[in-house]
Amino acid sequence: MIGHGAPNSGTQDTAETILVVDHVSKSYLPTGSGGVVFRALSDVSLRAAKNEFITVLGPSGCGKTTLLRLIAGFERPSRGRVLFEGVEVRSPGADRVVVFQQPGLYPWLSVRDNIAFGLRLASSRRHRRRGSIPSSVQAIDRREADDAKENGPATWSWRRPKPDWDKVDETIAIVGLKGFEKRPPYELSGGMQQRAALARALVMSPRLLLMDEPFGALDAHTRPAMQEFLLELWDKLRATIVFVTHDVYEAILLGDRVVVMTPGPGRVADEMTVNIPRPRHEAVEETDHFRSLRNKAIGTLRGDMGDLGVGSQTAGPVSLVATELPIEFHRRNGTSP
Ligand SMILES: Nc1ncnc2c1ncn2[C@@H]1O[C@H](COP(=O)(O)OP(=O)(O)OP(=O)(O)O)[C@@H](O)[C@H]1O
Ligand SMILES: [Mg+2]
Repeated sequence: MIGHGAPNSGTQDTAETILVVDHVSKSYLPTGSGGVVFRALSDVSLRAAKNEFITVLGPSGCGKTTLLRLIAGFERPSRGRVLFEGVEVRSPGADRVVVFQQPGLYPWLSVRDNIAFGLRLASSRRHRRRGSIPSSVQAIDRREADDAKENGPATWSWRRPKPDWDKVDETIAIVGLKGFEKRPPYELSGGMQQRAALARALVMSPRLLLMDEPFGALDAHTRPAMQEFLLELWDKLRATIVFVTHDVYEAILLGDRVVVMTPGPGRVADEMTVNIPRPRHEAVEETDHFRSLRNKAIGTLRGDMGDLGVGSQTAGPVSLVATELPIEFHRRNGTSP
């Protein structure tokens, strides 16, 4: 069984909107494009309520990762804006944490130290602001990397501020990695590595969890187990999740709402509410509601693209008016917006 909450409890808890993507467009000037601007996203709008589980479904190249990067604050929109808890997103923040397709764990750190990494950085920043860290964290990390090559996974140095180890260990228990704390990541299975990556995000107590095809690299047996695990976790934590996938089944199984995106340029083509009670079992696939949602999603994707799985090839370059270029582009190139 998957999840143990009330039906669609993510939307029933509160109607409070915490995320607003407001008419966002994003354009790039790709390398070697000869000045032809590429429009990755066009006029994308979406909202997420507190504790809602939203899935973003779309084929390769439709701008899913771009959308997550804008929400995370890694990049700024060319047009429109992203608001989190009513405040415009201008940079990354510990309240919005991303889990990527590849776990991206540091091989020279133990599982426990990997999970503590974000907390350490956050407290390093606090210490640095107070002027109590004499050398840069990066320099320490380089020494640590060299040391790890000789001696295996590193342990914490007395030089740096200590993270909240109780919280780290609690999170390790939540993701079921107790007993593996001291292992280097390469001694874990793919599913365990992804759970460690999830723990590294959860330990920051994010109010918004952004997940970019986190189970895409897992095998067919591990993937359903991780889907089940994530929903049980979400049921306990009650964070808001925006989960990106190109898998129609996964999008419907997990989400309170499915946002269907199509490419060329990336935009929201449809939004579907999933009225399947939780906990959800794999057998929900056999229900009429699931079938009708799946057919609707496939119809939207096919209708727009001719065929499923066709990606960035269809999203060709688009000439744009200069006002859609990011400010950084104008600054770098001496042009005016
Ligand atoms: N920094 C960049 N410069 C130029 N083009 C970019 C940049 N980042 C993304 N793009 C383009 O924007 C489009 C959308 O990319 P994005 O990574 O968001 O797609 P996606 O939906 O996440 O695809 P996938 O499912 O394969 O991960 C792609 O055509 C990509 O080449
Ligand atoms: Mg992507």
